[in-house]
Amino acid sequence: MAVIYVTTPIYYVNDAPHIGHAYTTTAGDVLTRWHRQRGQDVWYLTGVDEHGTKVQRAAEAGGVAPQEWVDRLVDQAWKPVVGTIDAANDDFIRTTEVRHKERVQRFWEVVRDNGYVYEADYEGPYCVGCEEFKLPGDLVEPEGGGVPLCPVHGRPVEMLKEKNWFFRLSAFTDALIDHYERHPEAVQPTSAYNEVMSFLRGGLVDISMSRSSVSWGIGLPWDERQVVYVWFDALLNYITAVGYGAPDGSDESQFFHETWPAHVQLVGKDILRCHAVYWPAMLMAAGLPLPQCVFAHGWLLVGGEKMSKTRLTGIAPSQIVDHFGSDAFRYYFMRAIQFGQDGSFSWEDMSARYTSELANGLGNLASRATAMVQRYRDGVLPTPGPATSAEEALQAMMTVMAAEADDAMLALDFASGIGAVRRFIDAVNLYVTEQEPWVLAKDPALSERLDTVLYTMCEALRAIAVLYNPVMPKAMSSLWDQLGAGRSIGPLGEQRIDAVARWGQLPAGTAVSKGAILFPRLEESAE
Ligand code: ME8
Ligand code: MG
Repeated sequence: MAVIYVTTPIYYVNDAPHIGHAYTTTAGDVLTRWHRQRGQDVWYLTGVDEHGTKVQRAAEAGGVAPQEWVDRLVDQAWKPVVGTIDAANDDFIRTTEVRHKERVQRFWEVVRDNGYVYEADYEGPYCVGCEEFKLPGDLVEPEGGGVPLCPVHGRPVEMLKEKNWFFRLSAFTDALIDHYERHPEAVQPTSAYNEVMSFLRGGLVDISMSRSSVSWGIGLPWDERQVVYVWFDALLNYITAVGYGAPDGSDESQFFHETWPAHVQLVGKDILRCHAVYWPAMLMAAGLPLPQCVFAHGWLLVGGEKMSKTRLTGIAPSQIVDHFGSDAFRYYFMRAIQFGQDGSFSWEDMSARYTSELANGLGNLASRATAMVQRYRDGVLPTPGPATSAEEALQAMMTVMAAEADDAMLALDFASGIGAVRRFIDAVNLYVTEQEPWVLAKDPALSERLDTVLYTMCEALRAIAVLYNPVMPKAMSSLWDQLGAGRSIGPLGEQRIDAVARWGQLPAGTAVSKGAILFPRLEESAE
């Protein structure tokens, strides 16, 4: 069975991680957990980009050798983020690892043997912030004249003049246009697809694949004085990490054939061109298949601007997670921002949604259900009596909702997927309000009716726990325990999404207990 292989960008280690980086990693984690819960084989890769001018200069400014500098940043700043947001990645690649370096060198030897590398002079602008050779049309003229500015970083570009090795990118213009015409799903969303197509139709020019004035990088196998240009080193992580270039017949090489091409490669729209133009051209030059989809999401904005460390608007993931918890972090960013579009973050919006959707919506339903089974039935889930139209309506809604959520999540429409489950939670809460189990509990003649209502609440929560597990693994595992489902059904992670809508899976007799509040009320935020 082919593996569902999902990647995030590998982040530059020189900046401190902020919630923009955590956003992409969260999205990939929600997606891969969803696929796993559909019983699919999954491989989820994230990691860090450690070479290049930016890192070299940051290390120099810090007065330490680059390797020591990156080791410290990766251990103290970057690897911990994965834990902060509860990402269950299968691997974490560093571009300073031997496996990566050797395979990058092998890749470029293949491409050179295939005739796509030649030596020439480069003269032109370079943005160190982007680590990119810029085209004249990319730049902004500063007010009052002077060196043109990078539009992303708002800082002057540097003018380079060096002898480099070039990658024959121009040879792939037609092949890429043709590929994307036949595979419009290969770049998403549509706005990203259109941007890539119009860039391609403008024609591609060859681009330097090496740098001679940079020393912190991977040496060219055929020219020791030069290192591989950092993007043409970094992009290769997606294949080096899964075994490209490992000896033929080895397990690693076999794994490469099972994972590649990737199912989806997540990127921010800032690095779309590198991923949807340079990257597939590199793969074509080496005779490798192209990723099935590059999905470019939007930017998290703060005060209307892209959140970034350069502009000092970065918020560390732990600032939010310490206050709201990792589940709420994951929920909020997937739910409140349409994946593929820009979205603003604010503490007020996050607090409001936390309170209404998590604490009052789901949290309240869970605590009412478990508390009532405990109070009225000594913590034992009763056998339900006959279903009335109210229960039948909820069961029907559950089937439709689960299918809707599945379709949306597979299409990376996380907001709609979560929204479908959330509407079901609202419907169950309304059902409880209308059925008034606390009134039924007062009349022994209505005991069977009370059994039905209590059962319905808990069985609905069973399905909610399964569907929200990819989004909020900690809270849902606690809910699963409270429902007693671990003992009566089995581990939450093994519950299949494609079977979730079958009503009646939680057996009567299950021991239900009221545990810790899932989403505690928060103290007024200090922010
Ligand atoms: O570009 N909103 O690394 P990088 C949303 N090393 N996402 C954001 C964001 C924001 N405000 N800020 C950052 C690089 N991101 C290269 C990539 S890949 C082979 C090499 C996320 O540290 C988003 O995924 O600048 C964006 O594309 C990425 O971080 C850029 O991270
Ligand atoms: Mg960046």
